[in-house]
Amino acid sequence: ATTSVTLNTGAIMPTVGLGTWKSKPGQVEHAVEYALKNGYRHIDTAAGYQNETEVGQGLKASGVPREQIFVTTKLDNPDQRNVPEALESSLQKLDTPYIDLWLMHWPAPMTRNGKADKGHDWLDTWKAMEDLHLAHPEKLRAIGNAANSRLLSGVSNFSVEYLERLLKVARVVPAANQIELHPSCPQHDVVEFCQSKGIVLTAYSPLGSDNSPLLKNEVVNKIASKYGVSPANVLVSLHANKPLHTVLPKSVTNERILANAKIVDLTEEDINDLHKIDETHHFRACHPAWTGWGGLGFPDCK
Ligand code: A2P
Repeated sequence: ATTSVTLNTGAIMPTVGLGTWKSKPGQVEHAVEYALKNGYRHIDTAAGYQNETEVGQGLKASGVPREQIFVTTKLDNPDQRNVPEALESSLQKLDTPYIDLWLMHWPAPMTRNGKADKGHDWLDTWKAMEDLHLAHPEKLRAIGNAANSRLLSGVSNFSVEYLERLLKVARVVPAANQIELHPSCPQHDVVEFCQSKGIVLTAYSPLGSDNSPLLKNEVVNKIASKYGVSPANVLVSLHANKPLHTVLPKSVTNERILANAKIVDLTEEDINDLHKIDETHHFRACHPAWTGWGGLGFPDCK
């Protein structure tokens, strides 16, 4: 298993990071502080999570020097026409001089009142992110995306099409692609494509998100007993045992934050068994919450 990966910029990204999607402002400051005090060196947030200020407070409260922490945040959909201002806003809220990795959260420009911004191409957003990264690498160390085939579904491998469209014109190859990855959503096509281009994969919802059936899954539990660890450790370790992967277990609970950082070496057979889960138990963690995208004029999620 790996403990870090190297981005195409040469920067080191710790394999396990603390996820903060759905971590409430009242809880996330503590979660970030606790994680950093207990060995985490990678924190993931987003302007769209509306918790950057508290994440920034947690970074400070931990006492860990900023240069020892890898911080990712994301450009929010309504900010796709205001890329430089959005970067400044994230820097200010996180109270940090630089961001280690800035992702385009979705290839889905939106207006301030929550509609699809059909007059704007996300490729132009990428160009603006490239401009900032090239002009100010001291402020913006790497850029990437959080392409998501769920949003762009209809064709199951549209994420690969999206990346191909991007790579045709990109001056900067994305450093990372953050997508939903767990045994019930393996997205093998996107994974293989990114690995072939040296793009790091970051797994969000690695446990399957809230109330996940994966934690009760028989295969996951069997492997967990074999190594004397919890099901969550197996789900996190799955990614740490793959090339160019990083993983973001989310928790606001002390014991879980501690436990989730423990990685075990899995065998090829364990990994194959975990991959078979998708054949009978496929799901996307946030599926029900996102059916509204269709109404915004984006292809509906499947
Ligand atoms: P909480 O934040 O209340 O501790 P994912 O990382 O796939 O998004 O999953 C996050 C969900 O899993 C949250 O509901 C989180 O709860 C819960 N969770 C995180 N770590 C563990 C763990 N080790 N065991 C069980 N549930 C966990």
